Amino acid sequence: MLDSRDSNEAVWKSDESVARWVATTGERERGRAFARRLLAELLPFAESDEFTFLDIGAGTGAAARVILDSYPGSTAVLGDYSPQMMAEGRRALASYEGRYRYVEIDLAAGRWPDLGSPPQAAISSLCVHHLPDHRKAALFSEICDRLVPGGWYLNYDPVSAEDPVVGEAWRRVQALRDPEAAARRASRTPEEQAHWENHVRHIIPLDPQLGFLHAAGFEAVDVYWKELDHVIFGGRRPVA
Ligand SMILES: C[S@@+](CC[C@H](N)C(=O)[O-])C[C@H]1O[C@@H](n2cnc3c(N)ncnc32)[C@H](O)[C@@H]1O
Repeated sequence: MLDSRDSNEAVWKSDESVARWVATTGERERGRAFARRLLAELLPFAESDEFTFLDIGAGTGAAARVILDSYPGSTAVLGDYSPQMMAEGRRALASYEGRYRYVEIDLAAGRWPDLGSPPQAAISSLCVHHLPDHRKAALFSEICDRLVPGGWYLNYDPVSAEDPVVGEAWRRVQALRDPEAAARRASRTPEEQAHWENHVRHIIPLDPQLGFLHAAGFEAVDVYWKELDHVIFGGRRPVA
């Protein structure tokens, strides 16, 4: 049965969990290269533009680094609440010194630090699904309010299937691509099982999240990419 306590914060602020997460990053990232690149390409900037973007729940900056590489004049403000992830990020971002800064933010609480001038774009990747629904909705409003007019927000995240038949189709393809996943699932320790259940507890379908974006005031809301349970969706703050 699903443990009722949300251990998200404890997980991301644990030396052991973050060390494990970082050690297995390489294998996860191989399957994400396309989405990471597309997230950068969707930002409507020329290669030579100078702009600042916000990466929400930035972790070690995996998404931000692709944008920093794609747009040499860009600067990143990376928001996260995990000292361990930010420390790992500073190592991973060593060659980007002067082009990024971390700000501490607890997205579940909605208390924002001073960002300086409004960012021209915002992204999040693999983070919003850690938040309860009322915070997903509020976060989208908070982002819209902080962007410059015309600024885009794009979110790369997993979603769940509303229709069980759809979920079954996703799982069938995932099993074809990773035939050992079922055996790994079956041999989880109780601790690994609890970790997994916590990980998926706030993952919800796509449609309500598109509704949250509309309600937050975004326009041009679309699902810009989707593969099975992973999506890039977003929109822009109206120009006026
Ligand atoms: C799966 S990692 C993703 C990191 C990065 N965005 C990426 O794409 O690799 C999730 C990140 O969200 C952060 N996070 C989760 N809940 C958060 C919260 N309530 N406030 C701030 N950061 C949070 C974690 O600390 C972690 O760095």
